[in-house]
Amino acid sequence: MRVVIAGGHGKIALLLERLLAERGDQAVGLIRNPAQVADVEGAGAEAVVCDLEAASADDVTMLLSGADAVVFAAGAGPGSGVPRKDSVDRAASVLMADAAERAGVRRFVQVSSMGAGQPPRPGGGEVWAAYITAKTAAEDDLRARDLDWTILRPGGLTDAPAAGVVRLAAPPVPAGTVPRADVAAVIAALLDGPGTRHQTLELVGGDTPVAAAVRSVS
Ligand SMILES: NC(=O)c1ccc[n+]([C@@H]2O[C@H](COP(=O)([O-])OP(=O)(O)OC[C@H]3O[C@@H](n4cnc5c(N)ncnc54)[C@H](OP(=O)(O)O)[C@@H]3O)[C@@H](O)[C@H]2O)c1
Repeated sequence: MRVVIAGGHGKIALLLERLLAERGDQAVGLIRNPAQVADVEGAGAEAVVCDLEAASADDVTMLLSGADAVVFAAGAGPGSGVPRKDSVDRAASVLMADAAERAGVRRFVQVSSMGAGQPPRPGGGEVWAAYITAKTAAEDDLRARDLDWTILRPGGLTDAPAAGVVRLAAPPVPAGTVPRADVAAVIAALLDGPGTRHQTLELVGGDTPVAAAVRSVS
């Protein structure tokens, strides 16, 4: 399977690239900074330089030619302000989804966030509000498309080693944290089968092995 990952140098993306390479899938990481090529290749993926805040739908459509699935794992990141929440967390996802439709790549896994789909919590600040607003808009855009989408909303991300066990279910799941390594494993399992298409799933640490957790919602 050829999987194009938006935000190919992200922490989840690099973990996912390793997992896909280990099982014989072909991962392609889209990055905006050429200095990251070696890391992406080191994770076993092909690196393609493509700034998703500058690329056109035509550019990305070309890059998706021959792909079997798209994973949107980009994000403006913790140091960013309001404008980039919109230009990355919303607009780059919309761009990828547009290009997926045009290129005929039906499978699309979007990394969203717990908290999306509801009004931002009061007192969270304007950047948090912009982030949740952007994630919610990106989800709404994807749901309206003729794609085999799955929206994955992790809780707070940690860099702990993979636990191998999670709680994965339709919202609402009580707030919690989850290692990025387990998020990557869940995405790899979601890509394996189309059984979760058209579902929005929340993910935190839990006690169900990843494969069983994905089977239980498929
Ligand atoms: N932090 C949390 O607790 C939390 C919770 C739930 C969900 N999430 C979401 O989970 C997702 C992945 O998390 P993560 O920790 O793996 O994120 P991350 O390490 O911050 O990775 C995000 C990646 O997106 C890339 N990116 C930003 N702008 C781009 C552009 N214009 N073109 C191409 N790539 C671009 C970044 O590249 P650069 O190095 O060039 O900036 C970075 O590699 C994000 O969408 C995040 O919002 C986070």
